Amino acid sequence: MNNEHQRFPIDPESAERLATQGLRMRLVDTASSEFPVWLQAETRGFHGPRPSEESVGQQVRGFADRRTTGVFDESGADAASPISSASSWPTELTVPGQTSVTAWAISAVTVAPTHRRRGIARAMLEAELRTAQALGVPVAMLTVSEATIYSRYGFAPAAMVADWTIDTRRAKWTGPAAFGRVQFVTLEQALADGLELVGRARLNTPGEIEFSGYLWERKLGIHGDAGLDKQLRFVRYDDVAGVAQGLAIYRMIESPGVVFTHTLELQYLVTATDDAYAGLWRYLLEVDLVSAVSAELLSVDEAIVWQISDYRAARKTFERDHLWTRILDVGAALEARRYGAPGRILLDVSDPLGLAAGRVLMTIAADGSASATSFDGAIPDDAAALSLSVNELSAMYLGGVSALTLTRAGRIVELSPGAAVAVDASFRSAIAPRLSIWF
Ligand SMILES: CC(C)(COP(=O)(O)OP(=O)(O)OC[C@H]1O[C@@H](n2cnc3c(N)ncnc32)[C@H](O)[C@@H]1OP(=O)(O)O)[C@@H](O)C(=O)NCCC(=O)NCCS
Repeated sequence: MNNEHQRFPIDPESAERLATQGLRMRLVDTASSEFPVWLQAETRGFHGPRPSEESVGQQVRGFADRRTTGVFDESGADAASPISSASSWPTELTVPGQTSVTAWAISAVTVAPTHRRRGIARAMLEAELRTAQALGVPVAMLTVSEATIYSRYGFAPAAMVADWTIDTRRAKWTGPAAFGRVQFVTLEQALADGLELVGRARLNTPGEIEFSGYLWERKLGIHGDAGLDKQLRFVRYDDVAGVAQGLAIYRMIESPGVVFTHTLELQYLVTATDDAYAGLWRYLLEVDLVSAVSAELLSVDEAIVWQISDYRAARKTFERDHLWTRILDVGAALEARRYGAPGRILLDVSDPLGLAAGRVLMTIAADGSASATSFDGAIPDDAAALSLSVNELSAMYLGGVSALTLTRAGRIVELSPGAAVAVDASFRSAIAPRLSIWF
């Protein structure tokens, strides 16, 4: 997609609704002097400190390709500062079948505490969804501060993540040998080569998204907490042919009161092959003067558990929703991914916002590809049929949430006997969906 999304007109429905409250919704030019003001308001919305001039300068590049909007209360004392912010851009989301769908990433959603609970976030979110749909983007997505906010707009958690802690004194390596080379690289080398590796690895896991250079720089600690980049270590795995297939980014946290004992805090691990995964995990578990490896935003289903001598040495310390998706065009979204079993599926989708409602008949071929068309007739005898809202369909979309579980929870209704199990055979992903970053 070109940069049409940045200039696309503001959604008139939301703009009119806000105007009745004396509020003005408009685009913000990130290349102009109004961007630092917008950024101060956005940072305040997340209770962060005022960004420095240097940080603003860095973030200008990060926002350069995004659509940035604000709502302004022109009757206020500080009329130049928006009282609400949002930022969005189209990017690639990995879906089952090692392929991608274009998705509308929404970020930086805030409303000033002085203007809360007047429907401003609703106006912003609905505007984002209508804008994405008008631009032909079939799915919207976000990572969320609270799990209570976005269901009402049709979003649902589709990729979960887990925090893990591994006791390295108990976890002896029992996994396969990796014959490639593990070596330190510099921040500059990680910066230069890492993005290509991330792009390659992304296709292995549904839920991962295409990074911009800015998001990659953030992972490397460049725009993060003061001094983080100075604490980070970068270790690369090259396979026997000399091709970079993995990168681990970590720092050491000294255990309080215990001399020369550390927790290795894994900030990011990207691996394009199983060989690189084994090579880097073995390295991480065997570093001296370390008693534990801890990491956030890993998969809920990590192979490392099966590569160590003591299954209980690896503990999942937290598991939660992370990537929320919202289907906007059911046919296009469903056709973008691959499926595990052939057959016919009829989905009767409801949508309170009216963006994705309707009956769709899917025909899944033996190669896992699908066609999906609007359908008005009676349920075909050979189709597994479900009635569900756009939330449930969005939850199931990446293959990590079971139609049977949602049926048992009373959130999906089977329109033909045994339909949920049949749908799961097609929809479920063998690889647990995961997203390894915040955006
Ligand atoms: C979350 C936030 C954007 C909501 O803004 P708002 O303008 O007060 O929200 P609205 O008035 O449009 O509320 C819309 C609906 O969401 C609900 N809602 C809003 N914030 C909520 C929250 N934090 N938890 C649960 N429900 C919430 C409202 O009750 C309302 O429900 P209804 O439609 O059923 O009546 C705002 O509180 C905020 O900026 N919070 C801090 C930053 C943040 O967490 N942003 C989200 C980033 S992912």
